[in-house]
Amino acid sequence: MSVRLGVLNGPNLNLLGERDPKHYGTVSLAEIEERLRALADERGTALEFFQSNDEGQIVDWVQDRAPHVDGWLVNAAALTHTSVALRDALAASARPFVEVHLSNVYAREPFRHTSMLSDIALGVVAGFRFSSYAFGLEALIDHVESAGHT
Ligand code: DQA
Repeated sequence: MSVRLGVLNGPNLNLLGERDPKHYGTVSLAEIEERLRALADERGTALEFFQSNDEGQIVDWVQDRAPHVDGWLVNAAALTHTSVALRDALAASARPFVEVHLSNVYAREPFRHTSMLSDIALGVVAGFRFSSYAFGLEALIDHVESAGHT
């Protein structure tokens, strides 16, 4: 069976392309999805995408999809810094996840230096714009394959 991953994008990431290009670049979320799907195809990996501005909908999606995916690629956006609910949902899913950020959150405001997710993540990639997602995806597929989930 091939690897299947959930790709989660949190609040305001629907605005990518027009929002704060200094930090987030000019690539839209639709372009990120298209480019990740191309990379995943090369690895024989299926992706399920979800974006919401609503914490409850995100928790519901993680709970709903957990039995059907092998891991998660997560840009939780602002919820990274605040959400115990998302942390608990990801932990309860018992699936590995990689935390990604377009910007280098450690070079920004102090409140962005705290993550509710990092210590239970497989790894964290931040600061490389789209490439954060690409590196995170490759590493997550490698991990899931080597863990024998296929
Ligand atoms: C972000 C960084 C967060 O601090 C911020 O709230 C975002 C995007 C990033 O991808 O760089 O919305 O996760």
